[in-house]
Amino acid sequence: MLNVENIHAGYGAIIALRGVSLHVEAGELVGLVGANGAGKSTLMATIAGVLRPTRGEITFEGQSLLGLSPEEILRRGIALVPEGRRIFPSLTVGENLRLGATIRRDQKGVERDIEEMCTRFPILGKRFHQAGGTLSGGEQQQLAIARALMSRPRLLMMDEPSLGLSPILVDEVFAMIVQLRASGVTVLLVEQNVERTLDIADRVYLLNTGRVECEGVPEQLRKQVDIVGAYLGDVRGREVSG
Ligand SMILES: Nc1ncnc2c1ncn2[C@@H]1O[C@H](COP(=O)(O)OP(=O)(O)OP(=O)(O)O)[C@@H](O)[C@H]1O
Ligand SMILES: [Mg+2]
Repeated sequence: MLNVENIHAGYGAIIALRGVSLHVEAGELVGLVGANGAGKSTLMATIAGVLRPTRGEITFEGQSLLGLSPEEILRRGIALVPEGRRIFPSLTVGENLRLGATIRRDQKGVERDIEEMCTRFPILGKRFHQAGGTLSGGEQQQLAIARALMSRPRLLMMDEPSLGLSPILVDEVFAMIVQLRASGVTVLLVEQNVERTLDIADRVYLLNTGRVECEGVPEQLRKQVDIVGAYLGDVRGREVSG
């Protein structure tokens, strides 16, 4: 479905991705983990068309995405829930949801999906007319995900959806991701929460300073505890010893 081949990208003199290759097949839940600064968000921004790679190729369902605008990439079926749940704080929950659907012309379908989001995420129904900024962190995260879903993406990319959430909300977010995948959405998930990601992903990529360090099914990666432990420190080490 998505093919990333030998992508190089960065910010001026800073090279953040040094030849990254990755693929996501339809229906998969693929995890992308790695230490701070490894290049995870940069890779997502590059796939979403926010950042232009200096080398390499990205194709989605066989067609190149290079040179397309972020909006065009969204139209092709790839939505991004960016790092730090960037919702519009002064707009209502309903307005935020509607903004996720600006690429759509089927007004009736949009209204139906808004209702469906309020069923899937009941808090959004309850807070529908309230400003997004008044929601709690976990509620805003649900809104950010629901907004991305309003474009009806075939591939949903999520950048650290559990960041900053309390343990219960982290559980909720992971349960929601599993549900999303069950409903047929293909997911590329960036997470610092390695253990939880290994639990739910079909395959996982470990990124280290702009390169793919290793890739495989969770069981394979679990066997490479040293590698994973070396780059992810405590999180992994603690849980393995326990
Ligand atoms: N706007 C920017 N300008 C300059 N350098 C940047 C910019 N954004 C990221 N970088 C650099 O690019 C590298 C990769 O950053 P990136 O945000 O992709 O990492 P990450 O894996 O998402 O990290 P984290 O887990 O902390 O979110 C880092 O060295 C970072 O300092
Ligand atoms: Mg990041």
